[in-house]
Amino acid sequence: MSFRLQPPSPARLNRCQLFGPGSRTALFEKMARSAADVINLDLEDSVAPDDKAQARANIVQAIGDVDWGDKTLSVRINGLDTPYWYRDVVDLLEQAGDRIDQIMIPKVGNASDIYAVDALVTAIERAKGRTKPIAFEVIIESAAGICHVEEIAAASPRMQAISLGAADFAASMGMATTGIGGTQEDYYMIREGQKYWPDPWHWVQAKIVAACRTHGLLPVDGPFGDFSDPDGYVAQARRSATLGMVGKWAIHPSQIALANDVFSPSEAAVTEAQEILSAMAEAKASGSGATVYKGRLVDIASIKQAEVIVRQAELINCA
Ligand code: COA
Ligand code: MG
Repeated sequence: MSFRLQPPSPARLNRCQLFGPGSRTALFEKMARSAADVINLDLEDSVAPDDKAQARANIVQAIGDVDWGDKTLSVRINGLDTPYWYRDVVDLLEQAGDRIDQIMIPKVGNASDIYAVDALVTAIERAKGRTKPIAFEVIIESAAGICHVEEIAAASPRMQAISLGAADFAASMGMATTGIGGTQEDYYMIREGQKYWPDPWHWVQAKIVAACRTHGLLPVDGPFGDFSDPDGYVAQARRSATLGMVGKWAIHPSQIALANDVFSPSEAAVTEAQEILSAMAEAKASGSGATVYKGRLVDIASIKQAEVIVRQAELINCA
């Protein structure tokens, strides 16, 4: 057991991150009125190369013009392997108003990638006298990214969240799939003639969650491409929530309610967590560190588990 305490993650909701291309201005107002906690205006892979400059201008304008309510407003810049990313950062930080909260950096491979963007952002913030520091969120979507995820999580005090980008990750790893997330047909085990489909994303998700929790960041599950398969989306989201992720991307409005539902604890779960906390308070008062709740052991670790659920419910009630 380390004597260092695990740092808390940012106390904000991140159940659903809704994406929309910076080139489709007609979506901006709809995104702002949606029930997503986080909005990601995209300059990267949903915008064609010829549209990058216009998309940048659209986003700079919309950051100031659209009423984004109390949402976390994030812009996904282009990757550091492109000729676009520095101009994304310069235009956003020099021209956009203070309403922008966060920059999402895709395809990060190591801590130096974060350092490079941090240096540029810091210089522009100082030059322009910007008083609200821009936060960072990143996408792990390459073999290098997952190998270096812990140093990435620790790379800057601006870091707030890490998402898994399943499609680029699969390509980088050479995985034999063209789907974006979810169960993979050929990733199965067989027992007594019955097929069973394990989760090929399990290890990478768990590794991202561990890196995030070590450094006080929010771990987030990325896109699920087949938006005509809500059951598949919910199954993927539930697995992510079980592993400790706090939310999931939506690439279509139909996915927002699904994510909000999975990543909001049910009334029954909150009641149970509160009952566990009461049972443990009684146990503590009578000098005991463990007790029985509904026929099962609960102890001091159960308090921490229950507090995760109660804290999330409190955040939702405050929103
Ligand atoms: N945010 C808000 N509203 C959206 C939306 C989004 N991302 N995508 C679609 N809508 C709206 C449409 O404008 C339409 O509204 P209407 O009923 O007022 O006409 C409604 O939701 C239904 O849209 P639909 O016709 O089913 O989708 P589409 O064909 O217009 O667009 C996609 C489908 C996938 C191209 C579009 O959802 C999209 O661009 N998603 C984001 C992609 C992205 O950003 N990828 C990068 C991250 S992986
Ligand atoms: Mg990607």
